[in-house]
Amino acid sequence: MEDLAPRPGDLEAIETASRDEMSALQLERMKWSLTHAYENSAFYRQRFDEAGVHPSDLKTLSDLAKFPFTTKKDLRDTYPFGMFAVPREKLARIHASSGTTGKPTVVGYTQKDIDTWATLVARSIRASGGRPGDIAHIAYGYGLFTGGLGAHYGAEKLGCTVVPISGGMTERQVTLIQDFKPRIIMVTPSYMLSILDEFRRQGVDPRTSSLAVGIFGAEPWTNAMRQEIEQAFDMHAVDIYGLSEVMGPGVANECVETKDGLHIWEDHFYPEIIDPNTGDVLPDGELGELVFTTLTKEGLPIIRYRTRDLTRLLPGTARAMRRMEKITGRSDDMIILRGVNVFPTQIEEQILKCRGLAPHFQIELSRAGRMDNMTVHVECTVEFADDAARSHSAHELTHHIKSVVGVSTRVNVHAPGEVVRSEGKAKRVVDNRPKE
Ligand code: DLL
Repeated sequence: MEDLAPRPGDLEAIETASRDEMSALQLERMKWSLTHAYENSAFYRQRFDEAGVHPSDLKTLSDLAKFPFTTKKDLRDTYPFGMFAVPREKLARIHASSGTTGKPTVVGYTQKDIDTWATLVARSIRASGGRPGDIAHIAYGYGLFTGGLGAHYGAEKLGCTVVPISGGMTERQVTLIQDFKPRIIMVTPSYMLSILDEFRRQGVDPRTSSLAVGIFGAEPWTNAMRQEIEQAFDMHAVDIYGLSEVMGPGVANECVETKDGLHIWEDHFYPEIIDPNTGDVLPDGELGELVFTTLTKEGLPIIRYRTRDLTRLLPGTARAMRRMEKITGRSDDMIILRGVNVFPTQIEEQILKCRGLAPHFQIELSRAGRMDNMTVHVECTVEFADDAARSHSAHELTHHIKSVVGVSTRVNVHAPGEVVRSEGKAKRVVDNRPKE
């Protein structure tokens, strides 16, 4: 793989700033953001008043802990436009989450917000090893989801030639990769696996493709999956994180030269880690729920948004900004099986240890009597498809999950192609337990 470390002149000044410079900028911007929210959003004014806090109470960054949290429920309760801090006519664009339950959450951006977003995605692509002039194949979904358009504007801003293919039509994805020869691909890691399958189905060796950098996010994925994809394509696989409530993709991104967690673009988003049960702020290094405050956003300022994503904050390495560890999972996705906490990423890690198994999987939860059961649906690889090999793989995976994760599971090894494929975010857990 190419050595893609940045050259000295490549970085923005803030990416190499001192901690003091960063904190000073954050404090100044945080004061602005709290004031903007309080003065221009009836929602925040009421919230702050109820909590007995005023933007002028913020003297240091840690004073932020005095301010109330914002949650997804707040966005739902104020559906569709109730949290915006600018008149609707000043919004250049709206995005929305699909909303698996209830109403979707709606977010809005001024033109300046869109420009900031594009700048941060451009920074993220550069951190991943992308350069001006590259062809960028964008297979995140376009539309209300922030993935496609977020990646698109950032890639254009960096000076890439953008191929806005969106998700789906996997055969055509491979054809266009073969014909246009993109250097960069931006897509969910699970959909990248479907593209990988399609390369093989067409008899094309993925290692011969033009792809040098993959920028994968929108769902949790493990370092084991990184290795799998990097080896299959002979490319760098880099993690991009974001959420629509805070902006979209490009809130944090790994640096290709270190791949040691994601640098949070702290000049625009202030991170905290809290204990999800008490709401107390935890020191850097401790595992907890990630909370964000936007520092520059006009349309929808977000103050202390509880992401439900679990991670820890670590000091900066390749950049001045602090890092967050690769996300283990969301508190919503945590399975509690007979008293043991299980995340789908832990199962992914164990599957990737088994030579006879492909990386596609889905977890099914069911109940027999009072007993919860977990079945892992996974596929054998073409080389290990006979009955004996499949039975061996099933035993191997059951054993790994029991000894490393600590739960007994059933493992169902299906034939290649039988586990449902994703074209965007994979649905890892199917809960068939009766609703209580
Ligand atoms: O998924 C934005 C995005 C698009 C990020 C493309 C990266 C690439 P939402 O649909 O609002 O926005 O979902 C946000 O997805 O709270 C996490 O739970 C999860 N997520 C996003 N990126 C990652 C990642 C987009 N790199 C939610 N690792 C977040 C783990 C991720 N989880």
